[in-house]
Amino acid sequence: MKKALIVYGSSTGNTEFAAETIESFLSENGYEVALTDVSNAGIDIFDETHDLFFIGCSTWGEDEIELQEDFEPFYEDMTGSLSLKKKNFAIFGCGDSSYTYFCGAVDMLEERVRRLGGNLVCDSLRIDGEPEEEEIDEWVQGVTNAA
Ligand SMILES: Cc1cc2nc3c(=O)[nH]c(=O)nc-3n(C[C@H](O)[C@H](O)[C@H](O)COP(=O)(O)O)c2cc1C
Repeated sequence: MKKALIVYGSSTGNTEFAAETIESFLSENGYEVALTDVSNAGIDIFDETHDLFFIGCSTWGEDEIELQEDFEPFYEDMTGSLSLKKKNFAIFGCGDSSYTYFCGAVDMLEERVRRLGGNLVCDSLRIDGEPEEEEIDEWVQGVTNAA
C-alpha cells in the first residue's frame, strides 16, 4: 500500500479543511495516510518513508508574505542539513487573490523544497477563498497520477 503524509498549518480552518479533504481522497484511493497539524510536527517527519508528502500552508501578512504562524518554526528548520532528495512533494494552501502576494506561502514552500532537493510532482494548489471539495479532489487525482 502506498503511503502519504500530510502536514498543514491553518488559522481559520480553510487549509485544515483542504488537508482533511486530501486525506479522505487518498484513503478512498488506496493510500495509507497520516495527517498532522504542523504545530505537532518537527522536520523529522521527512525522515520517514512515504511515497508522497503534502505540505499545506495559508498566507498572511499585508506588505510582505507571512506564513501561517504555526508554520514559521517548522519552515525555519527546513534548512541546511535537511535533505529532501528522492522524496516526492505536493504543495497546497489557501489565500485570497485580493492581496498582493496571492498564496505567497505556497511560493515560499515550493522554493524551499526545491532548494533542499525535493521533487515537486506537479503544480501546487492555490485556493482562492473558501476551499471546495471538488477542486481539491481534482488536484489530488492529478498529484497521484503524476507521483
Ligand atoms: C490579515 C490577513 C492577511 C492576509 N494576507 C494574505 C496574503 O498576503 N496573501 C493571500 O493569498 N491571502 C492572504 N490572506 C487570506 C488568508 O490566507 C485566507 O483567509 C485563508 O483562507 C486562510 O486560511 P487558513 O484558515 O487555513 O489559515 C490574509 C488574510 C488576513 C485576514
